[in-house]
Amino acid sequence: MNPATDRAVALVTGAAGELGRAICARLCRDGLHVVAVDLNLEAAQALVRDLDCQPGQRALALHADLGDQASIEAMVDRAGAAFGRIDVVVNNAAVNHRGSLFDFDPVQWDHMMAVNLRGPALLCQKVAPYWKAQGSGRVINMVSRCWVAGGPPAYVACKAGLVGLTRSMARELAPWQVTVNAIAPGLLPSAFTLDGRDRESFELMAEGSIGNTPLKRLTTPEDIANTTAFLASSDAAFITAEVIHVCGGSQLAPFGRA
Ligand SMILES: NC(=O)c1ccc[n+]([C@@H]2O[C@H](COP(=O)([O-])OP(=O)(O)OC[C@H]3O[C@@H](n4cnc5c(N)ncnc54)[C@H](O)[C@@H]3O)[C@@H](O)[C@H]2O)c1
Repeated sequence: MNPATDRAVALVTGAAGELGRAICARLCRDGLHVVAVDLNLEAAQALVRDLDCQPGQRALALHADLGDQASIEAMVDRAGAAFGRIDVVVNNAAVNHRGSLFDFDPVQWDHMMAVNLRGPALLCQKVAPYWKAQGSGRVINMVSRCWVAGGPPAYVACKAGLVGLTRSMARELAPWQVTVNAIAPGLLPSAFTLDGRDRESFELMAEGSIGNTPLKRLTTPEDIANTTAFLASSDAAFITAEVIHVCGGSQLAPFGRA
């Protein structure tokens, strides 16, 4: 722990987005220092201004492009210089270029793989020396229920890849008591899911999603923030290499009526 303040440091990527904001707010409420990382620095700064930090608690907004190794490394250096340690990494940032197998754009495919899959790996590679020195750490990777359900191929491939990375890193980082888990949210409205869709087509998609969800509602940002907080806490110290589906059972195949 941080000798000065006894608070852990959480670094959250995609912090300015719908889920990122809720995760930062919850980890801040739980008493962690928060490093809010986003491509959109202004939005991350606005989020940090809104966080309700207690005396001795700090929140810092940093720019990074998760698709760019130098940018990731510069950001981690700045976070390390500011706090002296990094405990929790939430790999939440992602981009989504839609496209089917028949019409996907290879440049967009590579961009998605770089941001959504290589980015989390490079970030963890750069933070690893902190975890090794501390003998503790937490990684929480944001995937999606579609890693099992299927969907747009590039998006699903990088989320399924991120599950594979979760399991590999869980083994590689275990000697330092670093746990690595994934959260698979269901559908919720955000810039990510609304992009390129009008509200009406989102509502139609949401209706279909609720229809296939045994617990009969969409995911909320708070559902995801609560699970992130649990995985970041000492209560989850012996859980690693898991995927927690936070999607009301929509990872199950629809079941016909008897
Ligand atoms: N919204 C959903 O329905 C849903 C469902 C399942 C999984 N997810 C996953 O949850 C995570 C967050 O999604 P959201 O709905 O909050 O999306 P969002 O669009 O609201 O937020 C994404 C954030 O990532 C940032 N970002 C984009 N490219 C970046 C880059 N190259 N470097 C750094 N930051 C970058 C954006 O600026 C944005 O603030 C994603 O990993 C997404 O795949 C979302």
